[in-house]
Amino acid sequence: MEEKRRLTSLGAVRTWYDDYFRANGTWPTTADYAETILRLLDEPGAPQRRRLLDVACGGGYFLAHTPAEAFERFGVDLSGVAAAEAHCRTGLPIGVASAEALPFADGSIDVVVCLGSFEHFVDKEASCAEFLRVTRPGGRVLVLVPYDRHWIDTDPQPIELVGSPKEWSAWFRERGLRVDLTIDTDDLPVLAGASPRCTVLRMRVGRGRLRRTAHQVNRLLRFLGRSQ
Ligand SMILES: C[S@@+](CC[C@H](N)C(=O)[O-])C[C@H]1O[C@@H](n2cnc3c(N)ncnc32)[C@H](O)[C@@H]1O
Repeated sequence: MEEKRRLTSLGAVRTWYDDYFRANGTWPTTADYAETILRLLDEPGAPQRRRLLDVACGGGYFLAHTPAEAFERFGVDLSGVAAAEAHCRTGLPIGVASAEALPFADGSIDVVVCLGSFEHFVDKEASCAEFLRVTRPGGRVLVLVPYDRHWIDTDPQPIELVGSPKEWSAWFRERGLRVDLTIDTDDLPVLAGASPRCTVLRMRVGRGRLRRTAHQVNRLLRFLGRSQ
């Protein structure tokens, strides 16, 4: 995997996004885009109305295109500018919060989605641990992440991590998530238009001992990261 890291603190990253969004606006996505992602989350036997959290929701386009009948929708973003726009677009209370410290109770979410954002987080260990903590046992996590190093050269965002589908799958598996679907966005025309050369990983949060162990390992990794 290859990383670009121009900023290191959450405060500096937040300021960067606020300034960028004030000057350029947030990145839009379409209803077709949301439908394509949501279709990947269809599953027989799922609760009738699932609690869905969009982590780093940007201007709220995905949430706006997610049907309220099927999903109770929640969103957070590090940038107050993006969160305010997402609130105007969706009418939902959008949290100004980092992925590294999600303001949700343990096991309170059925589906976490994180689209074109995980690669930009300051602390990916902490963010992944938060995904595992807030998602109920048996729930879903879906991420869309880049695999082409071209993103490092062309994307203005200050932090970027790129990896092959195999590398990303291994990264999440090692942290206790079960990857059950890996799709190249170039194979889905609707997604390719918005996010070329990315991978969608659909994952399940385990139940019982495996989940608890993953959670404990993540906490230990976070502790060790802080004490270095
Ligand atoms: C490329 S945008 C993607 C936004 C949205 N998910 C979409 O698909 O349009 C990346 C988003 O990540 C947010 N972000 C960056 N670092 C974050 C962090 N540590 N915690 C939460 N959000 C973060 C930014 O503010 C920005 O809105």
